[in-house]
Amino acid sequence: MSAPASHRLAVIAGDGIGPEVVQEALKVLDAVEQVYRPGIVVERLPYGADHYLATGVTLPPDEMRRLGSDVDAILVGALGDPRVPGNEHARDILLGMRFQLDLYVNERPARLFDERLTPLKGKTTRDIDLVVFRENTEGLYVSVGGTFKQGTPDEIAIAEELNTRKGVERIVRHAFEWARANGKTRVTMADKANAIAAHGLWRRVFDAVGREYGDIERDTRYIDAMAMDLVRTPESFQVIVTGNLFGDIISDLASMLVGGLGMAPSANRHPGRVTMFEPVHGSAPPLAGKDVANPMAAILTLSMLLETIGAREAAAAVDGAVRAAVAANVGTPDIGGTHGTRAVGDWIARRVATRE
Ligand SMILES: NC(=O)c1ccc[n+]([C@@H]2O[C@H](COP(=O)([O-])OP(=O)(O)OC[C@H]3O[C@@H](n4cnc5c(N)ncnc54)[C@H](O)[C@@H]3O)[C@@H](O)[C@H]2O)c1
Repeated sequence: MSAPASHRLAVIAGDGIGPEVVQEALKVLDAVEQVYRPGIVVERLPYGADHYLATGVTLPPDEMRRLGSDVDAILVGALGDPRVPGNEHARDILLGMRFQLDLYVNERPARLFDERLTPLKGKTTRDIDLVVFRENTEGLYVSVGGTFKQGTPDEIAIAEELNTRKGVERIVRHAFEWARANGKTRVTMADKANAIAAHGLWRRVFDAVGREYGDIERDTRYIDAMAMDLVRTPESFQVIVTGNLFGDIISDLASMLVGGLGMAPSANRHPGRVTMFEPVHGSAPPLAGKDVANPMAAILTLSMLLETIGAREAAAAVDGAVRAAVAANVGTPDIGGTHGTRAVGDWIARRVATRE
């Protein structure tokens, strides 16, 4: 066998349940290395609330540059800690990576592994299999705006929503490219163009870019109607593309259709550059330290990472092991199971190691 390629993976386990779910993902990665040898070299970084509270440092600029140029992938657990009420460390680290590394694609799949996991009556695993592509660097998250006369009865708070043609075009194109590469036949774009005139840009760009993909149907919804239809007819969605805020909200809704945040992986991408992988969920402080957090979102995130570096067989094995765990009812309480975080990780790692 030839020597394995080396891929550098930086890990920021973060806060709350972040370290617990990351530990299980890395346990599964150990099993993957034994069997498939993708050659992933893990480097653990200390950033998070503890580090910030002890040193005042969130993520140093030199480190951000190094992450952008010297590593192949980043895995983040979750960031957010009640001891940092303003969440400034999380904003610096997470939004910092998305914005400064220009990771403009937030890919959030929602696939139903077992009918038992969906709250929707009568929907099957065939009905719920979609991906949300959320624009990740613009929209309402750019911190343009501010407050005036704060704390007085005349207080004004303004947040500007930024939409650039370049920014909209690259995420829309990515969604169509992904659809084509993955055999999908429809892309749905969500906006609020009926009430927010600036969203006309999304409609025009979606139409213009979509015309280049004649084999793929173009579908548009207002975001409120999409929220309704995701519950009513989830089978009508294959690929969704939308802005930063709508994508944030709609992907949480989509995760609930497949078992909740504990089942929702994601990737933050800029093709050709470093990719940052993270479960969609936050740090869930009330669950931390209790061995109850669902590690499947983090483990499915590992599967996305393996796929991205070209370790397809390993990615499929990890994905299959999570499906098998769900089928065997080896899960945490959030998906109706009785197992702990570590026991679920052990089971999935063993399944991968034994190539079942
Ligand atoms: N990407 C991130 O790091 C990220 C994302 C969202 C929120 N946050 C931060 O996390 C903190 C908590 O935020 P929140 O409570 O709004 O969102 P959260 O995702 O932490 O929790 C929301 C709900 O989902 C449940 N949940 C989440 N992950 C789970 C898992 N793996 N297993 C079982 N149940 C799970 C929680 O118990 C809770 O009921 C805040 O500081 C917030 O800013 C961080």
